[in-house]
Formats: sequence, C-alpha cells, structure tokens
Amino acid sequence: VRPALQAIAELVRREAGIVVRDNQASSLEAAVRRATGSDPQTFLRLAQDPLAGRTALGRLIDEVTVQETYFLRERVQLEEISWRRLLQGATESGSASIRVWVAACATGEEAYSVALLATEAFAPAPPPVDILATDISEPALERARRGRYRARSVQQMPAGLRDRWLERADDGEYVVSDRLRGLVRFRQHNLVQDPVPPLGEERFDFVLCRNVLIYFDPPTVERVIVSLEGALRGEGTLLLGAADTLCGSAMRLASAGARPAPKPAPDDRRTLRRPLGREDDLLERALRCADLGRREDALVLVARLLREQPLNADAYFVRGLVELDGGDAAGAVHSFRRALYVDPQFGLAAFKLGVAHDAAGDRDAARRAYEQALRSLVPEEGRHDRILAQVDLGDIAAACRARLAGAA
Ligand SMILES: C[S@@+](CC[C@H](N)C(=O)[O-])C[C@H]1O[C@@H](n2cnc3c(N)ncnc32)[C@H](O)[C@@H]1O
Repeated sequence: VRPALQAIAELVRREAGIVVRDNQASSLEAAVRRATGSDPQTFLRLAQDPLAGRTALGRLIDEVTVQETYFLRERVQLEEISWRRLLQGATESGSASIRVWVAACATGEEAYSVALLATEAFAPAPPPVDILATDISEPALERARRGRYRARSVQQMPAGLRDRWLERADDGEYVVSDRLRGLVRFRQHNLVQDPVPPLGEERFDFVLCRNVLIYFDPPTVERVIVSLEGALRGEGTLLLGAADTLCGSAMRLASAGARPAPKPAPDDRRTLRRPLGREDDLLERALRCADLGRREDALVLVARLLREQPLNADAYFVRGLVELDGGDAAGAVHSFRRALYVDPQFGLAAFKLGVAHDAAGDRDAARRAYEQALRSLVPEEGRHDRILAQVDLGDIAAACRARLAGAA
C-alpha cells in the first residue's frame, strides 16, 4: 500500500475512529477522489491547511462511513425497551422526562423510530421524552432534519404504524409528522473526538449506539463504551447494535484465518459469539485461576482478553465473578452491567448482577436485576453450562424468585 494512502487511513482513524484496512486501499483512493477530486498526495497537502483541511477531511469521512439505516432497524431490540422503567429511572434522578441519546444516528430514521415507539407507549398522553440524535456527518444530519424518506427507509415498518406517523408527499416520499419531529433534536457530534455527553448536555437515561462500533478498532471501541457509560445517569441503559456485539467474534474468526460467519439470525447470536481459539484459552485460564483463589492473575488474564475484545460479554462476566468473590461489589456491578450491555439476554449475568447489588446494599437495583434474569434465563442456553460447569438454570431461576420474594 502506498505511503500516502497509509497516511490518509491513519488520519481517518485518528479523526473518526474508523479503520480502513490495507486491502481497502483502492476504495480509499476512490473515496479521496470523490471527496476532493484530488490524488492522495494532493489530499495530504490539503489536509495540512488549518481550514480547508478540516473540510476536506470531513468530506472524506462522509465518503468512508456507511450511513445505511432504516426505520425500526433491529425492531425486536427497540420493542423490548421498557419506557415505564425508563421513566421510573428518570423520576428517581429527579427529572420529569426521559433523556435519550441516539449516537451515530445517520439520516435520522433511528431517532424518529425511538420517538414513535415512545409516543405509542405513552399514548394518549404526550411522551415525556427528550431525544438528542447526533452523527459525525453534517450532510447526514441535514437529511435527518428534513425528515423525508424514500420507500426503502420505511419498508420494515408495519403499514399501520407508517401511516400513523409519516405522511405521503406528492413525490411519493414519506415525511415525518410534526409530532415526532418535535421530540428530536439533531446536532453534530464525533464519538471519538468530542466530549461525552456532548457539550452542554446533561446525562441520559437511555443511550443507543448501534451499528457504528463495528467500524472502530478495539481500543477505540473500549474508549467509546467507557465514555458512553459515563453519559448514563443512575441505572440508565446503553443499547448496542447486534452487529457491534458480534464484531468481536468476526475479528476472532478473521484472525484465525477462518471464513467470517454469515450474519446470524438474532437467536443465533450467543452461540456465534462463543469464545474461540486463543481467547478461549485466556478465559479458561482466568476461570481456573479464579477457582484456585488466584484472583489477581484471573483479573490480569481477563484484562488482556478485553483489550483485544472490548465487546466480550463472557469476559466481563468472569471479571464480575472474580470481583464479587473478592468482596468488590461495586466493581462486580459494573462488570455484570457491561456483560449485559453487550448481551442483554445473558441471564446468568443478570442474576449475578442482582447478587452484586444485594452485596452493595441496593435492594431495588437487585430486584430489577433478578426480574431481568428471570425474563432471560433460557434452558437451552449453552454458555451457562460452559462457564459454570455445574450450573442448573432451574436453581438459578428459583434463586431469583426466592430473592425477589425476600425483597418484597
Ligand atoms: C451504519 S450507520 C448506523 C446508523 C444507525 N445507528 C443504525 O443503527 O441504523 C453508522 C453511522 O455512524 C456514523 N459515524 C461514524 N463514525 C462516527 C464517529 N466517530 N462519531 C459519530 N458518528 C460516527 C456515520 O456517519 C454513520 O452515519
């Protein structure tokens, strides 16, 4: 790969976190041409100009980012949102409305989908939500503010919902209703460079960051997740995309020289995200150390694994077990919550989160975690057998119920 293209790829990575691989060099060169009409060397000279350089780099980033999105993408995930619980969390934080941040919102369909679901959930009352939607791309945000979409953007929507919330314009485009528009604010924000929460914003009850981490390298993913967690208030919820949580396994498969797995149906997610190869060893070794009471060694091994795969739910789970065992309830709460951000269906992590909350003396949070565990403990879940060899899920469910009864 030519040095000029390598230098441009590095500029893009530093500015937006996006990794352009060596085998994408010719696409990068074409993107440079489309963005600025120049060759790579000329682009690099231009990029050094304090003003014109920023514009040129911004245009290039628009070219290399994937802005694919549509209404109700990963609909099951969105429909599982408990708006009542979010409102309860907001109220406990002293706020009358639920603060939502849709990070990397592209052309706005995701933010309007969230507005729509909240409106339906609270109908006929006006929904107590304030939605901030951000993206690095100003042109994408302009389209989001316009709120006009082609048929392709709405094709996953049930016709009833679509017709309630979008009007058909004369040119056949779908136009977002004023009611939804009034709930969403759009502004530019770079997840990698800008303050989190965005300048002037308070923390949020609900943050969505879907289908963007997949383009970042592991250290950037880790940094972005840590900062997004810091943007949550109280028991706030962070929702990542299914593709993002899979990228750990995709990278693992690629580095093992295997063919990347086909995109799974949602139910296959967890089996595909099973640790493989070297990482599997690291996790097994960490578990062995934990069994032998060598907690420090276990934590070092897990930290190594998480440096490579910041979206490995199993690793956060094991870290939580070790912390809980060592009496660090607050640390364990944090680790189990991480496991659940990455995989909201990880029932055993929800159960252990309840135990950690109990150990930290937070009965209400413990109750919520046991309820979540009961909702997601599925007998055919293979991971549970593997992580805790003797675990009986019926026992765990019974333990959740007993703890809930005790807390009542
Ligand atoms: C594939 S879209 C995802 C849109 C939406 N979240 C969804 O799931 O349908 C990825 C978006 O991430 C944005 N993006 C890429 N790098 C970013 C960064 N560093 N900060 C903020 N947004 C970024 C891109 O501009 C693009 O609009």
